Amino acid sequence: MGYKRQSLLVFICSVALCVQIASADLSYSVPEEKRPGSIVGNIPKDLGLGVGTFMSRKARIDAEDTYQHFCDLDLKTGNFIIRDRIDREELCGEKVLCMLKYELVLESPLEVHRVSLLIQDVNDNSPVFPKDSVKLEITESALKGARYRVNEAHDADIGQNTVRQYSLERNEHFILTVRDDAEGSKSIELVLDKELDREKEHELKFALIAVDGGNPQRSGTAVIHVTVLDANDNAPAFDQAIHKASLAENSPLDTLVVTVRASDADEGVNGEVSYEFSRISEKAKKVFSLNSKTGEIKVTGTLDFETNSKYEMRVDAKDGYGLSSDSKVVIDITDVNDNAPVIHVKSLINPVTENAPPGTEVGIINVQDRDSDINGQVRCSIQQNVPFKLVPSIKNYYSLVTTGQLDRELVSDYNITISATDEGSPPLSSSKTVQLSVADINDNPPVFEEQSYSAYVSENNKPGSTLCSVSARDPDWRQNGTVVYSLLPAEVNGASVSSYLSVNGDTGVIHAVRSFDYEQLRSFKVHVMARDNGSPPLSSNVTVSVFVSDVNDNSPQILYPTPEGSSFMTELVPKAAHGGSLVSKVIAVDADSGQNAWLSYQIVRSTDPGLFTIGVHSGEIRTQRDISESDSMKQNLIVAVKDNGQPSLSATCAMYLLISDNLAEVPELKDISYDDKNSKLTSYLIIALVCVSTFFLTFIIIVLGVRFCRRRKPRLLFDGAVAIPGAYLPPNYADVDGTGTLRSSYNYDAYLTTGSRTSDFKFVSSYNDNTLPADQTLKKNPSEFADVFGDSDSSPEVSILVLPFPSV
Ligand SMILES: *[C@@H]1O[C@H](CO)[C@@H](O)[C@H](O)[C@H]1NC(C)=O
Ligand SMILES: *[C@@H]1O[C@H](CO)[C@@H](O)[C@H](O)[C@H]1NC(C)=O
Ligand SMILES: *[C@@H]1O[C@H](CO)[C@@H](O)[C@H](O)[C@H]1NC(C)=O
Repeated sequence: MGYKRQSLLVFICSVALCVQIASADLSYSVPEEKRPGSIVGNIPKDLGLGVGTFMSRKARIDAEDTYQHFCDLDLKTGNFIIRDRIDREELCGEKVLCMLKYELVLESPLEVHRVSLLIQDVNDNSPVFPKDSVKLEITESALKGARYRVNEAHDADIGQNTVRQYSLERNEHFILTVRDDAEGSKSIELVLDKELDREKEHELKFALIAVDGGNPQRSGTAVIHVTVLDANDNAPAFDQAIHKASLAENSPLDTLVVTVRASDADEGVNGEVSYEFSRISEKAKKVFSLNSKTGEIKVTGTLDFETNSKYEMRVDAKDGYGLSSDSKVVIDITDVNDNAPVIHVKSLINPVTENAPPGTEVGIINVQDRDSDINGQVRCSIQQNVPFKLVPSIKNYYSLVTTGQLDRELVSDYNITISATDEGSPPLSSSKTVQLSVADINDNPPVFEEQSYSAYVSENNKPGSTLCSVSARDPDWRQNGTVVYSLLPAEVNGASVSSYLSVNGDTGVIHAVRSFDYEQLRSFKVHVMARDNGSPPLSSNVTVSVFVSDVNDNSPQILYPTPEGSSFMTELVPKAAHGGSLVSKVIAVDADSGQNAWLSYQIVRSTDPGLFTIGVHSGEIRTQRDISESDSMKQNLIVAVKDNGQPSLSATCAMYLLISDNLAEVPELKDISYDDKNSKLTSYLIIALVCVSTFFLTFIIIVLGVRFCRRRKPRLLFDGAVAIPGAYLPPNYADVDGTGTLRSSYNYDAYLTTGSRTSDFKFVSSYNDNTLPADQTLKKNPSEFADVFGDSDSSPEVSILVLPFPSV
């Protein structure tokens, strides 16, 4: 055992890919009949690989089924060992080279090495003569030098171990000559050295010995049995020393192969020749028959070129005396394309990952065709519509390589059909389908179904209520496509976003964590991230806008007059006020918006129901008719302010009106609990008020006096109120046109102190068209706006209301 050869590294490189097919041939030789377990060689060492690599690359030995059981690979050591008894003669018969062919397959990268095992002959067979005894019938008249052919011995071994020599047991009459025949066989003849005499010797017996060239030598013996005849007889003679025939392997039964013919010079019974096989192998016996009378050799079994392509046999011709001669018959079987190619998948990477670059080798295919020559030449192909191709490598091997980028999300399984066709006529073909799966790679981030999401929620929602849900898709497999949702950390109004919203990681449903207040927060945006569970994970994010809508949760807040109980306000109404005079105004605001903040005013109770009226939306209190002497001096109004929400909320306030031209006329006012701790501020304000009032009254009196004197028209005293030239009006108080509609904004400024005495607030409430729904316009009567002085009282708060009053 042990000559080896390493050779041949083949690199096949193409433009896009570089597939490495290494084929290092390993040859070992081993004698037949080797004890099972014997080591033939160490393959990793001979290939220059470590045993570890060898194991990790899943080394294995492949062979045709008939050979597979003889040898195996010990993966632990890498030794190539004999597993089963190998009998060279049984395996190869007379073939000189008895070779077992194996393939060593390694994966990642795929490699195939040919391993051939030459079975050496061992001299385990002795020469054997076709028959133990050879009968010769020789007439006594035979002359010295006459030759008698004897069949040669056969040794199943080959080469040195076949028959080497013949020898003849010493005797008086015969010597032995051995000649080499043309066909490589030997012609053994007994030569008559001394004439026979039937009277002296009737019979002769001696041994013919054949020895082989093996060590130790083995021998075989046949006994030559000579009968001396006295008649003048002839042995049959074949017309050809060798009969050759050629036969297609698919020849049907009963096909005539060849007819052997021998003629006998004798007459009658003695000239009748019969034929029989004298030496024939067991295999040949099963497929050929010889007609003993006609000498026809016919097919009686199934021929197979692939198992046996040549038969050799000897035919004896015998006549009635028993005289015989023999002839050799050689039958060549010719190949017929009767074997379809067989496709073997030697290795397959399955599944193959979808990110495998184009040109990745995923499998090794081997095709075999047992026919020879052109009948055994095979072409391989695969179908067109798959991103794979076959690249031929060493003889009969193909690499299956990818030709493009795989995408599991598009095609996750391939059925690759490999077809092999030989070049025989007609050609035979076969196909094999290889199933290949594509393994997932986390190559797709989750994608939200919408570009952005909006959620609408009414304020005062319950914490935990559902706002909306987001959804993202990820086509990857299993955890690579499992989407988990989360909020991206951010701040909303200075607080963490998680104190506003939460998202269900599995479902993407977004919940409110708190109750929202429209008055504080009308809308905000959060980012929701969808992440898959791959490693590394991929993610994407989406904007969710949350819009809080208003609910009528704020009642109107009355700024003037300050609500009942906490302040005390009295309005002065001039006695001469005509019907329609502006007396006072209720000012209220509502923190809500829209309809929920659209206020309407209503007098719910009054001392004299017919005297005052209030503008539904303006809150302006006007006299309904001229004030008469009979009207009570003190008038109380309860005004309700309602918003337009559903349901609406309201607030009420009390308005105290004093019909008088002079505060001094109202002695009882002084009584009104103007007590205790009047602060300095309050005193100053009162002093200021009194001064202003006095000045104003004086001014009116002077004006009235002048008018009275000139026109003697006392009726006019308060009729047009105070005529102030238009030029005196502040620029933002517009003139009133003929229709009595104020053309521009009309502002009220209210300065008042609230509960805290130390802080002053200025409320500027702007009434213009913009604050009201578009179809609502403030309608004002033209003319008379009366002067109204809000007077202080004993309450801790003092309010002054200053109203502009355009006049005609
Ligand atoms: C591949 O073949 C198998 C079995 O024949 C079949 O179930 C499968 O659907 C085929 N796949 C494709 C992609 O054709
Ligand atoms: C997910 O993708 C990774 C690579 O990104 C891969 O290793 C893993 O096998 C994939 N998981 C599944 C279940 O396919
Ligand atoms: C959100 O997505 C945008 C693009 O869609 C990306 O630019 C940004 O980095 C992402 N933000 C986070 C925090 O992942």
